[in-house]
Amino acid sequence: MTDRLEDIAAAMVKPGQGILAADESTGTIKKRLDSINVESTADTRRDYREMLFRSKDAMENAISGVILYDETLRQNAKDGTPLVDLIRASIAVPGIKVDTGAKPLAGPTSDSETVTEGLDGLRERLAEYHALGARFAKWRGVITIADGQPSWNCIKANSHALARYAALCQEASIVPIVEPEVLMDGANSTHDIGRCHEVTEWTLRTVFRELADARVNLEGIILKPNMVIAGQKSPTQASANEVAERTLKCLKATVPSAVPGIAFLSGGQSDAAATEHLSLMNQMPGRPWAMTFSYGRALQAAALKAWGGREENVAAGQRALAHRAKMNGLAARGEWKADLEKAA
Ligand code: 13P
Repeated sequence: MTDRLEDIAAAMVKPGQGILAADESTGTIKKRLDSINVESTADTRRDYREMLFRSKDAMENAISGVILYDETLRQNAKDGTPLVDLIRASIAVPGIKVDTGAKPLAGPTSDSETVTEGLDGLRERLAEYHALGARFAKWRGVITIADGQPSWNCIKANSHALARYAALCQEASIVPIVEPEVLMDGANSTHDIGRCHEVTEWTLRTVFRELADARVNLEGIILKPNMVIAGQKSPTQASANEVAERTLKCLKATVPSAVPGIAFLSGGQSDAAATEHLSLMNQMPGRPWAMTFSYGRALQAAALKAWGGREENVAAGQRALAHRAKMNGLAARGEWKADLEKAA
């Protein structure tokens, strides 16, 4: 593969394929493994991710890229093959999460708002990640909706950091996934879809203004936004059609057509909802960008459960991943149908 940003970005959103977000930090993957009663050790984390990356059917047919965590990028499979080589062998692009997490935003909202850190030393880390095989990166800024929130300070600080990160990535010939996530879950997630629409639009406008100020080449990024959707604890949940319509409307109003691809996060949606929403959007007219998935939970949850940490369940885990990947691959083409879920 060439080092041109535009080529890498195109490979990440090739038709009918999407991105597997397997970049859970050590703390987050522990929570996932706890849920199946497996102790989180370097070996169990490797076994789990090796099971995913050796799922030939999923990886070759529906996964165009995999986001890794630092540990995984350096880890070998049980037989000594670097995990990154398993990804490359299935013609998927290896990527790396480079932010160091969302930290309390100093100021009056420090108990509820965060700013994502990780810019210090990033130039040097990106050079190393490139040498280790990463061709794209991810940075997630987090925006929380609550009474009187988000603050402008939170949106501005996170958007500015995303733009500085994106510029550093492009300097290192790495495609930045720009991920400003307006959360749908959390303790106070009672907001309705209209409020999510408003905040997502405000956030994306700010992100693209910052990207422009930093002279980021929009043809060499992938945007990873949330969908426009009601908060998980909202008493008024919107229909699948409304989620798809509002999300597309919001993106059309804010995302320049120079951006090659939009790869959504799942954010706490059920597996089927995340797939249905993506498919509906891909049936709607007037989309200047490729629209696909970059799901973590909505791709992995069934596979994690089917695997359960047992060697004898590796094939079952891989079948579960292959099924979800196939459903989402169809959704990326606007061809998913509910009865295909039962046919599995
Ligand atoms: P979810 O799809 O589970 O939201 O994760 C995607 C991701 O990479 C969040 O940063």
